[in-house]
Amino acid sequence: MSYGLLKGKKGIIFGALDQNSIAWKAAEQCHEEGAEFILTNAPVALRMGELNALAEKTGSEVVGADATSMEDLNKLFDIAIAKFGKIDFILHSIGMSVNVRKGKHYTDLNYDWLTKGWDISSVSFHRVMKCAWDKDAMNQGGSILALTYIAAQRTFPDYNDMADNKAYLESIARSFGYFWGKERGVRVNTISQSPTPTTAGNGVKGFSGFMGFADKMSPLGNATALDCANYIVAMFSDLTAKVTLQNLFHDGGYSNTGVSQEVIEAMDANNKED
Ligand code: NAI
Repeated sequence: MSYGLLKGKKGIIFGALDQNSIAWKAAEQCHEEGAEFILTNAPVALRMGELNALAEKTGSEVVGADATSMEDLNKLFDIAIAKFGKIDFILHSIGMSVNVRKGKHYTDLNYDWLTKGWDISSVSFHRVMKCAWDKDAMNQGGSILALTYIAAQRTFPDYNDMADNKAYLESIARSFGYFWGKERGVRVNTISQSPTPTTAGNGVKGFSGFMGFADKMSPLGNATALDCANYIVAMFSDLTAKVTLQNLFHDGGYSNTGVSQEVIEAMDANNKED
């Protein structure tokens, strides 16, 4: 069901890779709600060709940009401004750790890989906002979002250096968000999403166990990619105009649950077997 919440709004959506991507679902829902946007991803991801189907479905232009390249980002924003004038929303849905991808343990990190993953997953959010800032690309009342995970606050051993990347990302949202609010009337937030089966999610060791545990711990169960997309729509809409500098947990209640009955019972059953 569409409420027309984003009618007339224009934006840029980073990070739709395939149909499982959170950004893919977000693009579909933003389109449903009346938004127009540019879809962007790293040139290497565009070569997979899947994004064209989403572009067609949502009537969007696809523009390649490596989120670690100021040159690419500047070109992307020039294209967006030429097309739309000022824009109303930006979704940063980008994450990658080379150490996770190559199975390097947290106690034995490769620092070149760490730096690359940090630039892609965290600093890119600053780069994107700096481009938008320098070009005065955002309308007053606009909304900027990035996606994050609770490993920024609590320890999840297999999340590896992505935990540190997410902590840095959330800090950038607060630090840059202050100036966006004060000087441009734009809000900046991060959404801390449940584990979700996507290319990035499945890269984490033991992901399905991890997802099952989170689901059992959450009073409402895990939030899906579609649930997240709907929350993103709400955060881009005028209904959340005074929400800024927040890390918003979107996780079925996981973040505030100490233990659930299901997890106690599973532990009990385990102990009886021993
Ligand atoms: P995904 O793998 O579909 O999306 C990650 C995206 O980052 C891909 O589109 C990829 O091409 C893009 N990317 C990688 N390097 C890039 C670069 N240099 N420049 C531009 N784009 C680049 O996976 P998902 O899960 O949709 O990830 C989106 C965001 O959600 C990420 O920030 C992720 O950390 C976050 N998140 C994911 C959760 C999960 O369990 N899947 C849970 C909480 C947060």
